[in-house]
Amino acid sequence: MQTLTIKNLTAEVDGKQILNGINLEIKTGEIHALMGPNGSGKSTLSNVLAGHPDYTVTGGSISLNGEDLLEMSVTKRSLAGIFLAFQQPLEVPGLTIGKYLKRIVELRLAEGERMNVSSFIKDLKANLDTVGLDHSFINRYLNEGFSGGEKKRMELIQMMLLKPTFAILDEIDSGLDIDALKTVATGVNKLKGGNFGALIITHYQRIMENINPDFVHILYQGRIVKSGGRDLVDMLESKGYGWVREEFNIPEEADEYQRTIAS
Ligand SMILES: Nc1ncnc2c1ncn2[C@@H]1O[C@H](COP(=O)(O)OP(=O)(O)OP(=O)(O)O)[C@@H](O)[C@H]1O
Ligand SMILES: [Mg+2]
Repeated sequence: MQTLTIKNLTAEVDGKQILNGINLEIKTGEIHALMGPNGSGKSTLSNVLAGHPDYTVTGGSISLNGEDLLEMSVTKRSLAGIFLAFQQPLEVPGLTIGKYLKRIVELRLAEGERMNVSSFIKDLKANLDTVGLDHSFINRYLNEGFSGGEKKRMELIQMMLLKPTFAILDEIDSGLDIDALKTVATGVNKLKGGNFGALIITHYQRIMENINPDFVHILYQGRIVKSGGRDLVDMLESKGYGWVREEFNIPEEADEYQRTIAS
Protein backbone atom coordinates (compact mmCIF):
# COMPACT_ATOMS: atom_id res chain seq x y z
CA MET A 1 0.00 0.00 0.00
CA GLN A 2 1.16 3.53 -0.82
CA THR A 3 0.14 6.71 0.95
CA LEU A 4 -0.08 10.35 -0.03
CA THR A 5 -0.30 12.47 3.11
CA ILE A 6 -1.11 16.17 3.24
CA LYS A 7 -0.70 17.86 6.61
CA ASN A 8 -1.65 21.42 7.56
CA LEU A 9 -0.85 22.55 4.04
CA THR A 10 -0.94 26.28 3.38
CA ALA A 11 -0.11 27.79 0.01
CA GLU A 12 -0.32 31.07 -1.83
CA VAL A 13 -0.35 32.33 -5.38
CA ASP A 14 0.66 35.85 -6.34
CA GLY A 15 0.98 36.73 -2.66
CA LYS A 16 -2.61 35.66 -1.92
CA GLN A 17 -3.10 32.84 0.56
CA ILE A 18 -5.45 30.26 -0.97
CA LEU A 19 -4.92 27.06 1.01
CA ASN A 20 -5.46 27.49 4.72
CA GLY A 21 -4.43 24.22 6.35
CA ILE A 22 -5.38 21.16 4.32
CA ASN A 23 -5.28 17.74 5.95
CA LEU A 24 -5.91 14.75 3.72
CA GLU A 25 -4.59 11.22 3.41
CA ILE A 26 -5.11 9.11 0.31
CA LYS A 27 -4.11 5.47 0.21
CA THR A 28 -3.88 3.23 -2.83
CA GLY A 29 -7.15 1.39 -3.24
CA GLU A 30 -9.12 4.51 -2.24
CA ILE A 31 -11.10 6.92 -4.37
CA HIS A 32 -11.63 10.37 -2.83
CA ALA A 33 -13.92 13.03 -4.23
CA LEU A 34 -13.25 16.70 -3.55
CA MET A 35 -16.06 19.19 -3.98
CA GLY A 36 -16.29 22.86 -3.16
CA PRO A 37 -17.51 26.16 -4.55
CA ASN A 38 -15.71 28.03 -7.33
CA GLY A 39 -12.54 29.62 -6.04
CA SER A 40 -12.31 27.48 -2.90
CA GLY A 41 -8.83 26.22 -3.85
CA LYS A 42 -9.39 22.83 -5.51
CA SER A 43 -7.19 23.53 -8.55
CA THR A 44 -4.67 25.26 -6.32
CA LEU A 45 -4.35 22.06 -4.28
CA SER A 46 -3.93 20.03 -7.50
CA ASN A 47 -1.27 22.37 -8.81
CA VAL A 48 0.61 22.31 -5.53
CA LEU A 49 0.56 18.49 -5.60
CA ALA A 50 1.90 18.49 -9.16
CA GLY A 51 4.60 21.06 -8.31
CA HIS A 52 3.43 23.99 -10.42
CA PRO A 53 6.03 26.76 -9.98
CA ASP A 54 3.48 29.60 -9.60
CA TYR A 55 2.23 28.19 -6.29
CA THR A 56 4.22 28.71 -3.12
CA VAL A 57 3.82 26.38 -0.19
CA THR A 58 3.96 28.51 2.95
CA GLY A 59 3.49 25.78 5.57
CA GLY A 60 2.71 22.15 6.27
CA SER A 61 3.86 19.10 4.37
CA ILE A 62 3.05 16.61 1.63
CA SER A 63 4.63 13.20 1.75
CA LEU A 64 4.53 10.18 -0.52
CA ASN A 65 5.21 7.02 1.45
CA GLY A 66 7.00 9.12 4.03
CA GLU A 67 9.17 10.88 1.45
CA ASP A 68 8.93 14.67 1.15
CA LEU A 69 7.04 15.34 -2.08
CA LEU A 70 7.67 19.08 -1.89
CA GLU A 71 11.39 18.43 -2.32
CA MET A 72 10.80 16.59 -5.60
CA SER A 73 10.87 18.24 -9.04
CA VAL A 74 7.79 18.08 -11.26
CA THR A 75 9.35 15.25 -13.29
CA LYS A 76 10.34 13.32 -10.20
CA ARG A 77 6.81 13.56 -8.82
CA SER A 78 5.46 12.26 -12.09
CA LEU A 79 7.95 9.39 -12.14
CA ALA A 80 7.00 8.63 -8.53
CA GLY A 81 3.45 8.02 -9.77
CA ILE A 82 1.62 11.33 -9.26
CA PHE A 83 -0.57 12.30 -12.20
CA LEU A 84 -2.62 15.47 -12.64
CA ALA A 85 -5.34 15.81 -15.27
CA PHE A 86 -5.64 19.55 -15.71
CA GLN A 87 -8.90 21.45 -15.44
CA GLN A 88 -7.70 23.54 -18.39
CA PRO A 89 -5.21 21.48 -20.39
CA LEU A 90 -2.55 23.54 -22.15
CA GLU A 91 -2.36 23.80 -25.92
CA VAL A 92 1.12 23.07 -27.26
CA PRO A 93 1.33 23.98 -30.95
CA GLY A 94 4.16 22.18 -32.75
CA LEU A 95 4.17 19.13 -30.46
CA THR A 96 2.26 16.19 -31.90
CA ILE A 97 0.34 13.91 -29.59
CA GLY A 98 2.26 10.90 -30.87
CA LYS A 99 5.65 12.44 -30.02
CA TYR A 100 4.45 13.84 -26.68
CA LEU A 101 2.96 10.57 -25.46
CA LYS A 102 5.94 8.56 -26.68
CA ARG A 103 8.21 10.88 -24.68
CA ILE A 104 6.25 10.62 -21.43
CA VAL A 105 6.08 6.85 -21.71
CA GLU A 106 9.81 6.65 -22.57
CA LEU A 107 10.69 8.61 -19.44
CA ARG A 108 9.30 5.75 -17.40
CA LEU A 109 11.48 3.06 -18.94
CA ALA A 110 14.12 1.53 -16.76
CA GLU A 111 17.72 2.41 -17.51
CA GLY A 112 18.95 0.59 -20.61
CA GLU A 113 15.40 -0.48 -21.54
CA ARG A 114 14.32 0.40 -25.09
CA MET A 115 10.86 1.28 -26.19
CA ASN A 116 9.00 -1.02 -28.51
CA VAL A 117 7.55 1.63 -30.81
CA SER A 118 5.13 -0.62 -32.65
CA SER A 119 3.61 -1.94 -29.43
CA PHE A 120 3.41 1.66 -28.12
CA ILE A 121 1.48 2.71 -31.24
CA LYS A 122 -0.81 -0.29 -30.90
CA ASP A 123 -1.46 0.65 -27.29
CA LEU A 124 -2.06 4.27 -28.20
CA LYS A 125 -4.54 3.35 -30.92
CA ALA A 126 -6.41 1.09 -28.50
CA ASN A 127 -6.56 3.95 -25.97
CA LEU A 128 -7.78 6.38 -28.63
CA ASP A 129 -10.52 3.88 -29.44
CA THR A 130 -11.40 3.58 -25.76
CA VAL A 131 -11.81 7.33 -25.29
CA GLY A 132 -13.49 7.74 -28.68
CA LEU A 133 -10.88 9.81 -30.51
CA ASP A 134 -9.95 9.15 -34.14
CA HIS A 135 -6.46 7.71 -34.82
CA SER A 136 -5.66 10.85 -36.84
CA PHE A 137 -5.27 12.64 -33.48
CA ILE A 138 -1.81 11.03 -33.24
CA ASN A 139 -0.55 13.62 -35.73
CA ARG A 140 -2.38 16.58 -34.28
CA TYR A 141 -0.68 19.14 -32.07
CA LEU A 142 -1.33 18.66 -28.36
CA ASN A 143 -4.74 20.13 -27.51
CA GLU A 144 -4.49 22.75 -30.27
CA GLY A 145 -7.97 23.47 -31.56
CA PHE A 146 -9.42 20.59 -29.55
CA SER A 147 -12.96 20.91 -28.30
CA GLY A 148 -13.40 21.03 -24.51
CA GLY A 149 -14.40 17.37 -24.38
CA GLU A 150 -11.54 16.28 -26.67
CA LYS A 151 -9.05 17.93 -24.31
CA LYS A 152 -10.51 16.00 -21.38
CA ARG A 153 -10.35 12.77 -23.36
CA MET A 154 -6.66 13.49 -24.02
CA GLU A 155 -6.06 13.85 -20.29
CA LEU A 156 -7.74 10.49 -19.83
CA ILE A 157 -5.50 8.84 -22.44
CA GLN A 158 -2.45 10.10 -20.58
CA MET A 159 -3.73 8.60 -17.35
CA MET A 160 -4.40 5.26 -19.02
CA LEU A 161 -0.95 5.14 -20.62
CA LEU A 162 0.92 6.19 -17.50
CA LYS A 163 -1.04 4.07 -15.02
CA PRO A 164 -0.20 6.39 -12.11
CA THR A 165 -0.24 5.45 -8.45
CA PHE A 166 -2.16 8.59 -7.52
CA ALA A 167 -4.31 10.37 -10.07
CA ILE A 168 -5.72 13.83 -9.40
CA LEU A 169 -8.50 14.48 -11.86
CA ASP A 170 -9.41 18.16 -11.83
CA GLU A 171 -12.92 18.45 -13.24
CA ILE A 172 -12.31 15.76 -15.83
CA ASP A 173 -16.10 15.50 -16.11
CA SER A 174 -16.71 19.14 -17.07
CA GLY A 175 -17.71 19.45 -20.69
CA LEU A 176 -17.84 15.73 -21.31
CA ASP A 177 -20.77 14.16 -23.07
CA ILE A 178 -22.59 11.26 -21.43
CA ASP A 179 -20.66 8.56 -23.31
CA ALA A 180 -17.31 10.13 -22.44
CA LEU A 181 -18.35 10.36 -18.78
CA LYS A 182 -18.86 6.61 -18.79
CA THR A 183 -15.43 6.23 -20.40
CA VAL A 184 -13.87 8.20 -17.55
CA ALA A 185 -15.54 5.89 -15.09
CA THR A 186 -14.36 2.84 -17.03
CA GLY A 187 -10.80 4.22 -17.09
CA VAL A 188 -10.77 4.90 -13.36
CA ASN A 189 -12.47 1.65 -12.46
CA LYS A 190 -9.97 -0.28 -14.61
CA LEU A 191 -7.09 1.18 -12.62
CA LYS A 192 -8.88 1.00 -9.27
CA GLY A 193 -7.28 -1.45 -6.93
CA GLY A 194 -4.29 -2.02 -4.73
CA ASN A 195 -1.91 0.06 -6.82
CA PHE A 196 -4.09 3.05 -7.55
CA GLY A 197 -5.67 5.87 -5.61
CA ALA A 198 -7.48 8.92 -6.92
CA LEU A 199 -8.63 12.39 -5.97
CA ILE A 200 -11.55 13.31 -8.15
CA ILE A 201 -12.41 16.98 -8.16
CA THR A 202 -15.89 17.63 -9.39
CA HIS A 203 -18.95 19.85 -9.14
CA TYR A 204 -21.37 17.14 -10.16
CA GLN A 205 -23.06 14.14 -8.70
CA ARG A 206 -23.23 12.47 -12.08
CA ILE A 207 -19.62 11.20 -12.16
CA MET A 208 -20.19 9.49 -8.79
CA GLU A 209 -22.87 7.29 -10.30
CA ASN A 210 -20.21 5.32 -12.12
CA ILE A 211 -17.20 5.92 -9.89
CA ASN A 212 -18.16 5.16 -6.36
CA PRO A 213 -15.93 7.29 -4.11
CA ASP A 214 -14.95 5.90 -0.73
CA PHE A 215 -14.69 9.39 0.75
CA VAL A 216 -16.13 12.78 -0.12
CA HIS A 217 -14.58 16.03 1.12
CA ILE A 218 -15.87 19.59 1.01
CA LEU A 219 -13.30 22.32 0.48
CA TYR A 220 -14.36 25.78 1.55
CA GLN A 221 -12.06 28.81 1.52
CA GLY A 222 -8.96 26.67 1.42
CA ARG A 223 -9.97 24.23 4.18
CA ILE A 224 -11.56 20.82 4.15
CA VAL A 225 -14.53 21.61 6.36
CA LYS A 226 -16.34 18.28 6.15
CA SER A 227 -15.55 14.72 5.08
CA GLY A 228 -17.93 11.83 4.74
CA GLY A 229 -19.40 9.36 2.30
CA ARG A 230 -21.59 9.63 -0.77
CA ASP A 231 -24.48 11.05 1.21
CA LEU A 232 -22.52 14.33 1.39
CA VAL A 233 -22.85 14.63 -2.39
CA ASP A 234 -26.61 14.23 -2.22
CA MET A 235 -26.77 16.85 0.52
CA LEU A 236 -24.74 19.32 -1.57
CA GLU A 237 -27.00 18.69 -4.56
CA SER A 238 -30.04 19.66 -2.53
CA LYS A 239 -28.62 22.37 -0.25
CA GLY A 240 -25.72 23.94 -2.19
CA TYR A 241 -22.87 25.48 -0.17
CA GLY A 242 -24.68 28.32 1.63
CA TRP A 243 -25.02 26.38 4.88
CA VAL A 244 -21.26 25.75 5.21
CA ARG A 245 -20.40 29.29 6.30
CA GLU A 246 -23.03 29.24 9.06
CA GLU A 247 -22.38 25.71 10.24
CA PHE A 248 -18.65 26.23 10.57
CA ASN A 249 -18.74 29.90 11.68
CA ILE A 250 -16.59 31.01 8.76
CA PRO A 251 -16.24 34.81 8.87
CA GLU A 252 -16.83 36.92 5.75
CA GLU A 253 -13.51 37.80 4.17
CA ALA A 254 -12.40 41.43 4.65
CA ASP A 255 -13.34 43.50 1.65
CA GLU A 256 -10.24 43.48 -0.52
CA TYR A 257 -11.30 46.63 -2.37
CA GLN A 258 -11.63 48.60 0.85
CA ARG A 259 -8.15 47.48 1.86
CA THR A 260 -6.61 48.28 -1.53
CA ILE A 261 -8.33 51.63 -1.95
CA ALA A 262 -7.59 52.75 1.63
CA SER A 263 -3.88 51.99 1.32
N1 LIG B 1 -2.45 34.24 -10.04
C1 LIG B 1 -3.45 34.47 -9.20
N2 LIG B 1 -3.61 35.70 -8.62
C2 LIG B 1 -4.62 35.95 -7.75
N3 LIG B 1 -5.52 35.02 -7.39
C3 LIG B 1 -5.40 33.81 -7.91
C4 LIG B 1 -4.38 33.46 -8.85
N4 LIG B 1 -4.53 32.17 -9.19
C5 LIG B 1 -5.61 31.72 -8.50
N5 LIG B 1 -6.12 32.71 -7.75
C6 LIG B 1 -7.32 32.66 -6.91
O1 LIG B 1 -7.26 31.54 -6.07
C7 LIG B 1 -8.57 31.12 -5.73
C8 LIG B 1 -8.66 29.62 -5.85
O2 LIG B 1 -8.61 29.25 -7.21
P1 LIG B 1 -8.75 27.74 -7.67
O3 LIG B 1 -8.51 27.73 -9.13
O4 LIG B 1 -7.89 26.89 -6.82
O5 LIG B 1 -10.29 27.46 -7.33
P2 LIG B 1 -11.17 26.15 -7.61
O6 LIG B 1 -11.67 25.68 -6.29
O7 LIG B 1 -10.42 25.21 -8.46
O8 LIG B 1 -12.41 26.79 -8.41
P3 LIG B 1 -13.26 26.21 -9.66
O9 LIG B 1 -14.34 25.37 -9.09
O10 LIG B 1 -13.84 27.48 -10.27
O11 LIG B 1 -12.35 25.51 -10.60
C9 LIG B 1 -9.51 31.88 -6.68
O12 LIG B 1 -10.15 32.91 -5.98
C10 LIG B 1 -8.58 32.43 -7.74
O13 LIG B 1 -9.05 33.65 -8.30
MG1 LIG C 1 -10.61 24.53 -10.35
